[in-house]
Amino acid sequence: MSEPIHFLDLASQPQGALRAILDEAHRIKGEGRKPRPRTDVLAGRTLAMVFEKPSTRTRFSFDLAMREMGGDTIVANGSEMQLGRGESMPDTARVLSRYVDAVMIRMLDHDALAEFARHAEMPVINGLTRRSHPCQIIADLITIEERLGPIEARTVAWVGDGNNMTATFLEAAGPLGFRMRIATPPELAVPDDVVEAARAAGADVFVSTDPREAVDGADVVAADCFASMGDEDEARRLKLLMPYQVNDDLMAAAAPGAVFLHCLPAHRNEEVTDAVMDGPQSAVFDEAENRIHAQKAVLAYVFGLIAVAPASDR
Ligand code: CP
Ligand code: NVA
Repeated sequence: MSEPIHFLDLASQPQGALRAILDEAHRIKGEGRKPRPRTDVLAGRTLAMVFEKPSTRTRFSFDLAMREMGGDTIVANGSEMQLGRGESMPDTARVLSRYVDAVMIRMLDHDALAEFARHAEMPVINGLTRRSHPCQIIADLITIEERLGPIEARTVAWVGDGNNMTATFLEAAGPLGFRMRIATPPELAVPDDVVEAARAAGADVFVSTDPREAVDGADVVAADCFASMGDEDEARRLKLLMPYQVNDDLMAAAAPGAVFLHCLPAHRNEEVTDAVMDGPQSAVFDEAENRIHAQKAVLAYVFGLIAVAPASDR
């Protein structure tokens, strides 16, 4: 039996995979936005979706993607499974491997997700961990490309908390050849090993504590909530991060026509003002829509339906 293709993070995907997934997502979106055409390429396949944390976009977009590709879904809340009573990740992976054809999991502990994947005989997709949110970044990248053209050589500024979104953007930067400029408070910086791994993979990364410096001339300004799922120090974060709010002044420091991204849910007038979120530079609802097209491309990838050409062959 061949090894399943997992989608746990972006760094571990083979050369050429990210470009192939983005191209497939653009192709799929080009076939129709709503109503979206249905295919039967995943007929007879079932995706299990396990959520240990809340979700709107990931849950709806994966469910729709699977149905629109002819497949089925089963959604489960992790705390209502025996996982919640201590059944091990390896045993759960072994059992679900007998039942379904792929699993998408949202859980905070990335190492536990990786352990699950090691014992799964089917593809495992990361629906968000504390370390990585790879499906979201695929949607973000296609959103950037539809607004600005190819991501290569563009500059993405990240402002605020150095979190799972930041880390996943960094993982994509080297393979896809875009620059990252990051501003976080020192207390909430991206861990050094994450930045160093991105640089080792070829990423051009600038790290600062000054949002204006990070945003200066950037093509994209991206932000996220101040407190991610699992963060309990909300008051401290609010105090540390309010100076990193994306508002009209900060957007004015970016390149003319720069795009604002936020994976949502947003805490309006904390990390982003209403004016930016609802303004002409905001692509946040395209970004949310693009989760569907991205999910379809990720599903096609893990089910081996799209060819991955090494970068040197393209
Ligand atoms: N952006 C994102 O992952 O949204 P949900 O938490 O609603 O799935
Ligand atoms: N960084 C956020 C993203 C939510 C989609 C979190 O982890 O909660």
